[in-house]
Amino acid sequence: MNNHSSRPDDVLLSVRDLHVAYGKAEVVHGLSMDVRAGEFVVVLGRNGAGKSTVMHAISGLVPKRSGTVSFAGQDLTHATSRQIVQSGIIQVLEGHRVFQTLSVEDNLMIGTYAKSPHGDRSKLAAIYELFPELAERKQQMASRLSGGQQQILAVAQGVIGEPKLLILDEPSAGLAPMVVDRILTVATELCAKGLAILLVEQLVEKALKHAHFAFLMETGRVAAAASSTEIGQGDLLHRVFLGGGEPLSESEK
Ligand SMILES: Nc1ncnc2c1ncn2[C@@H]1O[C@H](COP(=O)(O)OP(=O)(O)O)[C@@H](O)[C@H]1O
Ligand SMILES: [Mg+2]
Repeated sequence: MNNHSSRPDDVLLSVRDLHVAYGKAEVVHGLSMDVRAGEFVVVLGRNGAGKSTVMHAISGLVPKRSGTVSFAGQDLTHATSRQIVQSGIIQVLEGHRVFQTLSVEDNLMIGTYAKSPHGDRSKLAAIYELFPELAERKQQMASRLSGGQQQILAVAQGVIGEPKLLILDEPSAGLAPMVVDRILTVATELCAKGLAILLVEQLVEKALKHAHFAFLMETGRVAAAASSTEIGQGDLLHRVFLGGGEPLSESEK
């Protein structure tokens, strides 16, 4: 367990008073959130709370109605998604979206475009070391991988772009517990190497076990922000997740 009660001083990502709307319907209402250097942060909340929307706003994939985003001292509020990637924020989208008709290796090469316009084969070796399950299957077409392997490939495709902050949006969705553990363990390893991790996750217990700090979201707002230990012990977590009959964790399904 990595939980610690005091956070590092060095703020890497800072989201302030963020509002996001789809058409006229505002779904994020003045949210503030930060990630410190080297931190593993998890965002919890029921379906529809606005977690993905916040991640998309950070990555520049949906427009912000108002509010600011800064990263490593740089104001990214009005930056394009391309500029945001180049500044070091890479998001692995919900639903392991890899290129089905390309090989594992070609999918990884696409990940290197984040840093080099023509791709960079020299990054492959380190990634295969980190993900031996991909090394074994480098020439296989992605469509022939299992759902779990595809999700690991999606994560690897993000990691190979050498982000300073890796955003993982529900990497465990629909996967077997062993694969989930593998993904969270890799995220913890990456974090130990200095990457900051921002994870959106439905498997509350598992996520809190790996993360340092947690934000609990309720209908477009932060309902609580505290160390994983404190959030795990708090009543609010139970209220947010059990209030509407949503499972607290995999063990209670
Ligand atoms: N593209 C979209 N257009 C309109 N409404 C959307 C869109 N995406 C999400 N929403 C709505 O915004 C709210 C937050 O969704 P989302 O950010 O996906 O939540 P979460 O990731 O926490 O499940 C929900 O009410 C959802 O229906
Ligand atoms: Mg979502």
